[in-house]
Amino acid sequence: MNTLKWWQKTVVYQIYPKSFQDTTGSGQGDIPGITTKLDYLKTLGVGAVWLTPVYPSPMVDNGYDIADYTGIDPSYGTMADMEKLIAEAKKRDIRIVMDLVYNHSSDQHAWFQESKGSRDNGKADWYIWRDARADGSAPTNWRGIFGGSAWTWCEERQQYYLHTFAAAQPDLNWANPAVRQALYQAANFWLDKGVGGFRIDAITYIRKPDVLQDGPADGKDGMASIHTMTADTPGILDYLREFQQEVFAGRDIFTVAEANGVGPDELKDWVGSQGVFDMLFEFSHMNLNFRDNEVWCYPNQWKLSELKKALSASQAATAADGWYPIFFENHDQPRSVNKFFPEGADPELAAKALGTLLLTLRGTPFIYEGQELGFTNVAWDSIDCYDDISSHGQYEFSLKEGFSPEQALGFVHRFSRDNARTPMQWSDHYEAGFTTGKSWLPVHSDYPRCCVESEAKDEESVLSYYRQLTSLRSTDKIGKVLIYGDYQERLVESEQIYAFRRTLGVQHIDIMVNFTLQEVGFDTAGLQGSKYLAGNYRTPKKGCLRPLEAVIYWNETGR
Ligand code: GLC
Repeated sequence: MNTLKWWQKTVVYQIYPKSFQDTTGSGQGDIPGITTKLDYLKTLGVGAVWLTPVYPSPMVDNGYDIADYTGIDPSYGTMADMEKLIAEAKKRDIRIVMDLVYNHSSDQHAWFQESKGSRDNGKADWYIWRDARADGSAPTNWRGIFGGSAWTWCEERQQYYLHTFAAAQPDLNWANPAVRQALYQAANFWLDKGVGGFRIDAITYIRKPDVLQDGPADGKDGMASIHTMTADTPGILDYLREFQQEVFAGRDIFTVAEANGVGPDELKDWVGSQGVFDMLFEFSHMNLNFRDNEVWCYPNQWKLSELKKALSASQAATAADGWYPIFFENHDQPRSVNKFFPEGADPELAAKALGTLLLTLRGTPFIYEGQELGFTNVAWDSIDCYDDISSHGQYEFSLKEGFSPEQALGFVHRFSRDNARTPMQWSDHYEAGFTTGKSWLPVHSDYPRCCVESEAKDEESVLSYYRQLTSLRSTDKIGKVLIYGDYQERLVESEQIYAFRRTLGVQHIDIMVNFTLQEVGFDTAGLQGSKYLAGNYRTPKKGCLRPLEAVIYWNETGR
């Protein structure tokens, strides 16, 4: 019972620094801004903060294109600001978690600049270079994740280089031991600064197949998604075991790896006592929206049973060994209120309904900035209003597939990553209190109501509900069941209700969420002897769940 580590018992909060708090009037968030908000985070029971990249970067992909792994981008502040953030957070028992983007660097990184110069320089094989085919075309028909060919021609070297993402993000060659050592050194640099862990980006792509060859076309462009060709290539775990030994082993930190392409059945090699990471963001419950490969113009109508199945599979896979990072949002996803609920859903009820799952499933909850306020998607008038590089790629791809500009923009509205990147809403003042300048992305128009200042005053707000649930997690008996208790799904067949029970000894907690906009009846027999703890309506209604209703019941005696 005492064997859980600090990061298994806490709540993690993800910050997108560019959109969190500006202190200079530049219109972009910065590190000192984060430091000013640590006390706010404390009110949500947060014990660790994951920062998306703050390293020097040309910002083609908002920092996921890193030009120096051991620096701070001047737009975010200085190394001294970072050290201060780590220290101030520590005083409040909050650890700072950095994002390691190790599948690729920026094309402006000194390593790439040297590598591209010739075929025989010291860094010549630090990236993945190939000759053109006889007709001059790219070595394979792979489509990068942001759209377009995954290969870009380099005049200087007279060769193509591979990029899983944008052309400005060349893939590093992990087969080269010198590359791996340089990356480990950078991670150790941050550990020496006192960071509490790492989120590891796009890690399933680091190993490429020995032979790079064409894949079956999956679109009218004749290309094959690079994801299907390179994700989770056999042998990847050899690199990851070395990474673990050289960086993470024996440290009191946590690692959570972004592992699109690793399913729940493979989790045991990746997490747990035999695994290489502490937690894994796998996307089986997040990718239900797409028929295949996250192509936005082919959305999928998913059923609640599929969502439940994915979540239950992840719970089962980490029940005895390993640990699950619970998440429904991040900086790459549309807002969960729009993603998981039918159109017309009341955003506050929906935000609380999903918050209920986030804070009661077994694992470490990851709250994404704004989620605790019930943020929703935006819908701007033109593709030109969007900053997100993948939105542009998906828009172009949709046009090529034959959709109209209106339809293509509709896909962007629904899935753009900018939905999650609008500034944090602190108050009902100018630019929602995010900046005194002009915000780099427009503030969502709902900010007067949906902001920290207003919601903190309102007992029935999404924020108050999040605070209520996160504080339950730290109460003695109930918190123990939420943290240590087993998970068991109930009403498995239901396409309306997601129900599960958390059990520890004789005590248990029942959680039920109605995902529909209709009232749904259920048999209350199992709840006799239980006490109503919390929910997103003021009081429960006997024998049914109202539209989007979430309820939590506590049973102390097992009767
Ligand atoms: C990950 C990040 C995403 C980024 C991509 C390339 O998926 O979460 O934001 O664009 O990797 O680094």
